[in-house]
Amino acid sequence: MAVRKSGMEVMVKEQLKIYKNKKVFVTGHTGFKGSWLVLALQELGCEVHGYALNSDSIPNHYGLHTLNIHSTISDIRNSESLQKALQESQAEIVFHLAAQSLVRPSYSDPVYTYDVNVMGSLHLLNAVRSCEHVRAVLMITTDKVYDNREMDYAYNETDRLGGYDMYSSSKACCEILISSFRNSFFNHKQYGIEHQVLITSVRAGNVIGGGDWSVDRLIPDIMKATAKEQKVILRNPTAIRPWQHVLDCLGGYLLLGAHLLNKEIAIAKAWNIAPEKNEASSVEKIIQLAQNYWPKIQYEIQSVAGNVHEAQLLMLDNAEIKEKLQWRPIYTTQEAVELTVSWYQSYYEDNKVVTSQQIRNFFNHSWN
Ligand SMILES: NC(=O)c1ccc[n+]([C@@H]2O[C@H](COP(=O)([O-])OP(=O)(O)OC[C@H]3O[C@@H](n4cnc5c(N)ncnc54)[C@H](O)[C@@H]3O)[C@@H](O)[C@H]2O)c1
Repeated sequence: MAVRKSGMEVMVKEQLKIYKNKKVFVTGHTGFKGSWLVLALQELGCEVHGYALNSDSIPNHYGLHTLNIHSTISDIRNSESLQKALQESQAEIVFHLAAQSLVRPSYSDPVYTYDVNVMGSLHLLNAVRSCEHVRAVLMITTDKVYDNREMDYAYNETDRLGGYDMYSSSKACCEILISSFRNSFFNHKQYGIEHQVLITSVRAGNVIGGGDWSVDRLIPDIMKATAKEQKVILRNPTAIRPWQHVLDCLGGYLLLGAHLLNKEIAIAKAWNIAPEKNEASSVEKIIQLAQNYWPKIQYEIQSVAGNVHEAQLLMLDNAEIKEKLQWRPIYTTQEAVELTVSWYQSYYEDNKVVTSQQIRNFFNHSWN
């Protein structure tokens, strides 16, 4: 796999040194992205405190590791328990990932989706108000927060918010909540006078990588079927998405967090993290790429009864984070698929979990 290296990447690597010995609070640490984030933070030398529910997927990525973290298993909507855990952590930086993170279940339980995503975010932000040790907050929303007009257009951070389905609209509501909370309680004009908190929201999506066993996501569906020597059923093969490797996405979160810890007020806004526009690919192209690395993968296209609406075309503009923060995707879509397939192959065929090795490669080679 090609390794790209530039002066900018050396600078990014330098900026991540700020995490050494930092206390970090991660909500959703038992989930797919959260568990990768915990491992990456530990690699950077952080003391990590997690807050989430137990994972109900079998197997689950978090459970595959023996992690030395302070873990609180509790509901994000329980404001008392959340505030206690945040207070006890004495964390300087918070990554909020806990969510009902799936589109299809949001159709069957819209109230729960809004409750966890919107009210959960509100409880978290409100807890930050009474925790003077917190200086930086990253609220993880999604690429689906835009009013998607399904055009050949990559949405930028100033585009109109929307959301056809309940998951997307709940996350768009979070964006309004975050902006309102920033204006009301952590206003830029009062920074350093009345408060010391910088909040950003981050819109990234279609993250792929090893260890995801969620229901109704493409990569988990492919890997679960392949492990059972079955064909995976594709329900929306022509849908185009900005796929990116979980480490490219987390690299963006970490970089934004480093700038917040550096007290850069201009960073406290919404950011897109996305692959290059010309990398957006269809679901069928992703599975065909995956077959190149694991020929056992087989698929069948079927219109499944009761299909709910899912966007056909979604692309994000990554220009701002590239220009202002020198972030860039390290992996092409093809490389992201290769890394993902090799993770599951190692797991299913060699009984090995290669997350830490992939994280070290990302930090040591890509950003060295
Ligand atoms: N995976 C993706 O492709 C993707 C794309 C866009 C945005 N996101 C966002 O990134 C974040 C992480 O996504 P993920 O893929 O890791 O999701 P995930 O479903 O794997 O993990 C969700 C986490 O939230 C926790 N959680 C759920 N409900 C909770 C509750 N009521 N109380 C406390 N904790 C609760 C779970 O325990 C878990 O730790 C989410 O906010 C999601 O919306 C993910």
